[in-house]
Amino acid sequence: MVRDSRVALVTCAAFPDLWEDDHPLRDALRERGVVVEAVRWDDPAADWSGYDITVLRSPWDYMTRHGQFVEWARSVPRLANPADIVEWNTDKRYLAELAAAGIPIIPTEFIGPGESWAPPADGEWVVKPTVSAGSRDTARYLLPGQAGEAVAHVGRLTAAGRTAMVQPYLSAVDTAGETAVLCTPDVDGRLTFSHGIRKGAMLTTRGDVPVDMNEERITPRTPSPAELALAERVLEVIPGGAKRLLYARVDLIPGPSGEPMLIELELTEPSLFLLHAPGAADRLADAILTRL
Ligand SMILES: Nc1ncnc2c1ncn2[C@@H]1O[C@H](COP(=O)(O)OP(=O)(O)O)[C@@H](O)[C@H]1O
Ligand SMILES: [Mg+2]
Repeated sequence: MVRDSRVALVTCAAFPDLWEDDHPLRDALRERGVVVEAVRWDDPAADWSGYDITVLRSPWDYMTRHGQFVEWARSVPRLANPADIVEWNTDKRYLAELAAAGIPIIPTEFIGPGESWAPPADGEWVVKPTVSAGSRDTARYLLPGQAGEAVAHVGRLTAAGRTAMVQPYLSAVDTAGETAVLCTPDVDGRLTFSHGIRKGAMLTTRGDVPVDMNEERITPRTPSPAELALAERVLEVIPGGAKRLLYARVDLIPGPSGEPMLIELELTEPSLFLLHAPGAADRLADAILTRL
């Protein structure tokens, strides 16, 4: 019975009324007669068993409490996306698995706690933690001049018990931008293309480690056939299959040859850019309804 079903949209202390981009989803669910509540993932008073489905949306403060967040996800009945996906997808080491499955990812070196990193002789490189979102603790460095700063950045992350990752800076992001391919289940429950957006380059300042979210410059974009094909390939190799998922965002940047490369697969708490795509919130609301 859809009417009076209860849906929790999961958020965090900074967005008690959800991020505004999720308001179209909240409204679309309410239009369908569903009771919708915005609930902080770390609200000690929340009763997650009281919801017919709990949908992760803006719980964007778990990065320094990753273990606690995964434990919480495991404790929630009827979580979308499921907890095992959350555990796998909140640590960008999943990129190595996708590469092994034949997905063209941005070449990535991982440096764990206790390991050290030897900077390349030159080139432009990105340093970031494997557990992050919103470009936090992420910066780009021009070598050799900024090698010391880049090594120090890796060292700060690993000293804090985090795993660092280093990638070449894909300069195509400065011109083409980043393409996000957003997918939701179709009427048959198959995860399919919903809409696309372009995100402008985030790392505009070299060597400056942002501590909070950078401003995102978002515009609608129709992904190219190559981008759509790659997104489809990525969805095919998700552990346990994509059929279990309520949403997926596949982020791509053109590599040196111009062909798209995977920068990030967001199955946990992606911004869905619903304000930029008419109809997208309705599609997602309908998909949620079929799961009630
Ligand atoms: N290798 C890279 N080349 C170019 N830009 C990058 C690279 N890595 C990160 N960025 C920029 O930093 C942003 C955040 O990095 P990302 O890997 O998407 O982590 P998250 O979004 O989880 O913080 C990207 O949207 C992109 O603008
Ligand atoms: Mg990203």
